[in-house]
Amino acid sequence: MISGIRQCSRHLGRFHPLGSYVGMRRRWMSSSMESLSDDERLELEKDIKMFAQKPQKQVKLEDLMAFKQPVEDAALLRNGEEVLHDIAVRLAHRLDALRYLDYLIVLNPSISQIYSLYYNSFRVMRSTDPPNTVEENAKFVQVLDHLVESHSNTIPVLAKGFYEARRYISTTDSAKFLDTHLRARIGTRLIASHHIALTNPIGDNFIGTVQMNCRPSFVLNESAAFVGDICDMKYGTVPQLVIDQGADIEIPYVPVHMEYVFTELLKNSFRAVVENGTHNIPVQATIIRTGQGVMVRIRDRGGGIPPPMEKEIFGFAFSTFDEGEGDGFSTLNSPPGGGGSSIAGLGYGLPLSRAYAEFFGGKLQVQTYHGWGTDVYVTLRSPFYANKL
Ligand SMILES: Nc1ncnc2c1ncn2[C@@H]1O[C@H](COP(=O)(O)OP(=O)(O)OP(=O)(O)O)[C@@H](O)[C@H]1O
Ligand SMILES: [Mg+2]
Repeated sequence: MISGIRQCSRHLGRFHPLGSYVGMRRRWMSSSMESLSDDERLELEKDIKMFAQKPQKQVKLEDLMAFKQPVEDAALLRNGEEVLHDIAVRLAHRLDALRYLDYLIVLNPSISQIYSLYYNSFRVMRSTDPPNTVEENAKFVQVLDHLVESHSNTIPVLAKGFYEARRYISTTDSAKFLDTHLRARIGTRLIASHHIALTNPIGDNFIGTVQMNCRPSFVLNESAAFVGDICDMKYGTVPQLVIDQGADIEIPYVPVHMEYVFTELLKNSFRAVVENGTHNIPVQATIIRTGQGVMVRIRDRGGGIPPPMEKEIFGFAFSTFDEGEGDGFSTLNSPPGGGGSSIAGLGYGLPLSRAYAEFFGGKLQVQTYHGWGTDVYVTLRSPFYANKL
């Protein structure tokens, strides 16, 4: 029945010259373009088309690390110019993909909010000149700061949009869109954040966003403390994390990526042990140095995942956590950047963690034993030796 309605409105929209499709799409697109003259709009449309045809540059850990310390002005300015171009290309690709979605999806208020954000960000990038002096670079960094900030809490918005529009898109198509979109988002944020951090260093032993001696055990403990606080608020109990091996291992890595993965995995493990009544058995982490980086195994005795569910867990929006609309959407009401402060609910934790682990060529695999517990193996690729700058 639902698909019948969908087919029908699709038909009306696509083939009726004055049908709802044309009018609705115009209304949707015009909301992002209200302050533009016709000429500016046309110019921007040409730019989107042109930039969407350019290839997106892959972000590699070795390239991020390839800046002599302290960064020379010439290298910084050259990077600024590349960053401006690369971000415009990436935003244009995303706009193109959003426009390709069925109009009933893009009409959803949350999705159209995302579209407007990308449109306006592209517009800002195209009206920004590459920095030619250190002073201009300082201003460019403010533009990048704003870009990162304005996109920081978009995942719950996107999730809400796709949840509401789920009847208009198949699970396969929405998974394909979200996977590409969210992986691209990781790259765009990293490119912007890296230039910001090359200009205003984060601290000792950092080259931009890369910490040359990033210690997985330290990040795990920080994540465990954060997730412990959430558990305390939610369940009134705090499961423990024990690191049984590799506490002193260090690799060059982007700590915020590591933190994302560990926080999501510990949220899942802590929730599982609490709900299974086994929170007195610590969650165990084992860290091993490999030729390609590190392998971290997170083992919990939270009862595991039932076999029929196993193949679903990497699906976007697959969650067994159910509280009204899902706790995850509540992050919509938290301050920007404060997303992810609920124990579960969106069903994005595992697929996004895998995307983060794979970003530099790593892996994330789940091995579960129903009735017992779950092991998650995370390989973070960094075939370089940790060193102090
Ligand atoms: N360690 C685990 N033990 C038991 N079940 C798990 C574990 N990890 C994941 N799961 C199952 O897989 C589902 C999907 O996990 P995922 O992290 O993607 O989403 P979520 O935790 O429900 O929501 P969120 O987006 O907040 O992470 C969970 O709802 C849970 O049923
Ligand atoms: Mg989760």
